[in-house]
Amino acid sequence: MIKVAVAGATGVVGTLLANYLTKENLELDLYASEASVGKTVNIKGKEFSLKPLVEINDTKYDYIFLAISAENTKALKRSITYPTKFLDLSSAYRQDPDTPLLLYGVNHQDYSNENFIALPNCVVAPVAKPIKIISNVNLVKNIFISTYQSISGAGREKTHKLLDDTTKDLEALKALESKFDFSDNCINQINSFNVVPAIDDIYADGSTGEETKIKDELSKILKLSDVTTIATCVRVPVIRGHCASINIVSNEAINLTNIKEQFLNDPELNFDDGVIPSPRQNGNSEVISIGRLRVFQDSPNVISFWVVGDNLNIGAAGNAYRIFKYIND
Ligand SMILES: NC(=O)c1ccc[n+]([C@@H]2O[C@H](COP(=O)([O-])OP(=O)(O)OC[C@H]3O[C@@H](n4cnc5c(N)ncnc54)[C@H](OP(=O)(O)O)[C@@H]3O)[C@@H](O)[C@H]2O)c1
Repeated sequence: MIKVAVAGATGVVGTLLANYLTKENLELDLYASEASVGKTVNIKGKEFSLKPLVEINDTKYDYIFLAISAENTKALKRSITYPTKFLDLSSAYRQDPDTPLLLYGVNHQDYSNENFIALPNCVVAPVAKPIKIISNVNLVKNIFISTYQSISGAGREKTHKLLDDTTKDLEALKALESKFDFSDNCINQINSFNVVPAIDDIYADGSTGEETKIKDELSKILKLSDVTTIATCVRVPVIRGHCASINIVSNEAINLTNIKEQFLNDPELNFDDGVIPSPRQNGNSEVISIGRLRVFQDSPNVISFWVVGDNLNIGAAGNAYRIFKYIND
């Protein structure tokens, strides 16, 4: 029986990943920080005692999933022993030229027996597939993406904080007898009843870390070297499910009929011309939902659409599980 470890098993990604892995016939150990030692997590009715990651003996495992921060991943990688296979969900090695960046259903066939595999960002995962389909039909010149990203993409602590802040805001609102005025407590980066157009660090050129990840990861996964990608990433007060408004500019008239047909026939996509997907309806799903697909007569080279994809099922945990199945089967 193969032996598998999940590092970061108390986090939003690690917990779901452990749930996916219990579908398989394998021996599973769960790791977290030293602060979690002595605690247990319940995965589908089975109690797992958490082990401290500092004590992991990687030679004991066939596969180790790293659902921890980029900094913790880098620290761990220094002492890694192969041939254990590592599937890293953090951003630490996504742009490393010797590390494959794999998204199931898009470029998983690029895997060629490497032991350390990087997995893409949670908003890149749902947008890459429809962009790949369009780029196979029409020559793509520019991609403009505006994202609307749920708070679970920022991890467990920020998700709990949004829930707590929302509760407090509602209580404050009731006390004020429904004056919808939060302006006095809306200091920087408060997510409740707010949208925040900055995810991750802000760089000198004005872009953010998340926006740079979209540009660089799409380019690596889709091999779109001559395409300009401009992204604006926004955090919205949604618990789960990321959305994106995408405009793709081509050098030629968009072949909408062909693209629609491919969207309709792809089992990983949920496309219905008459339906407007949203995180509440389509967020917690294992397929990517597409709506608002349109090409205007006066801009025949531009295609616009809306994507909803679960950051955990399509992105992080679901992709890690599908890549694991692909390389292990
Ligand atoms: N959330 C998403 O949608 C998403 C999507 C794609 C990729 N990712 C990436 O996946 C990784 C995990 O994200 P997350 O959202 O699950 O984060 P999270 O909810 O904040 O969980 C972080 C995990 O890391 C553990 N940890 C913290 N410090 C540690 C240390 N020093 N040694 C060992 N473990 C430590 C925590 O354990 P304790 O409970 O013991 O502190 C917890 O299990 C991140 O790199 C993130 O960027 C996240």
